[in-house]
Amino acid sequence: MASADNLVSLGQRVNDFLKRKLESLPDEPKELKQAMAYALLQGGKRVRPYLVYTVGRIFNASIHQLDFPAAAIECIHAYSLIHDDMPEMDNDLLRRGQPTVHAKFGAATALLAGDTLQTLAFEILTDDKCTIAGEVKARMCACLASAAGFAGMCGGQALDLKAEHHKLTQEQLEQMHALKTGALILAAVKLGYMTARYQEAYDNALGDRMSQAFGFVEQPQLKREQELLTTFGAKLGLAFQVWDDVLDVAGDTATLGKTVGSDAANDKSTFVTLLGLDGAKAYAKTLAAEAKAALAQLPVPTRELSEFVDFVVSRDH
Ligand code: IPE
Ligand code: IPE
Ligand code: MG
Ligand code: MG
Ligand code: MG
Repeated sequence: MASADNLVSLGQRVNDFLKRKLESLPDEPKELKQAMAYALLQGGKRVRPYLVYTVGRIFNASIHQLDFPAAAIECIHAYSLIHDDMPEMDNDLLRRGQPTVHAKFGAATALLAGDTLQTLAFEILTDDKCTIAGEVKARMCACLASAAGFAGMCGGQALDLKAEHHKLTQEQLEQMHALKTGALILAAVKLGYMTARYQEAYDNALGDRMSQAFGFVEQPQLKREQELLTTFGAKLGLAFQVWDDVLDVAGDTATLGKTVGSDAANDKSTFVTLLGLDGAKAYAKTLAAEAKAALAQLPVPTRELSEFVDFVVSRDH
């Protein structure tokens, strides 16, 4: 599958970029830097960078410009995982087949590594070496910040903790999953698109002032593209977390690289507790079909992304 090969090669690309970025930081405080590198560079599928690159390339973005949002969103993701694993949250000891950051470096360093990766994301996105126009970068920062924050990942994580030992309705569970995981996946799609189309509009000098430059997003064709990509990203993001719930029950710890049964041990509300294992799998496939239906309506080649959707709801890790 082309998407599987590209997931690996684009993953390598973002890894190289992130490695160089970390190397450019001062050596001290050493332990904090080691914890950041440990969280950022030791495996991971690189799904969010892949989406930034792939959506961006479909709409003709420059791959060099895409490096920055791809790396930035992976920093946010890595930070979210460090904090998610801590005893106050999911209390997990295994991530990507290795001890979690707090297990290896202690809670204080884990907290700070999460914090520094979060801010590093915005340093990367606003880097002078990134040739995306300033106005476009500002829009991208706003997009990433809101996807990571109260109305996105952090808000969803709060709902997740509150839902322990409770039974949520399907609607509540969808809302929680859409926020804690879906928001960043949708942001990856949007950042790829913005690098292409917003930058293109800027280059075409549709306006040299922000108000004019972004008036173009209301043009019918672009509005339609953004609506379809939003449906695609939202359905894919939800499917991704439903399948993550499935893997927590039906996966294998060695393959998954995290401890199977963690959700049950924490009495989490998941799609498996709501619908049963087969019901959750079927629901993930339905969401995947809806994501692909949105893709099919885009006026660009989407076969690779469509294959990627299938991967998300059939993966074993
Ligand atoms: C795990 O994300 C956490 C969720 C949001 C479900 P990934 O499955 O993308 O984790 P890595 O980066 O590949 O380890
Ligand atoms: C995590 O959901 C969502 C995040 C924002 C990190 P999970 O808690 O199910 O993710 P895993 O299974 O630990 O990777
Ligand atoms: Mg969690
Ligand atoms: Mg967790
Ligand atoms: Mg999980």
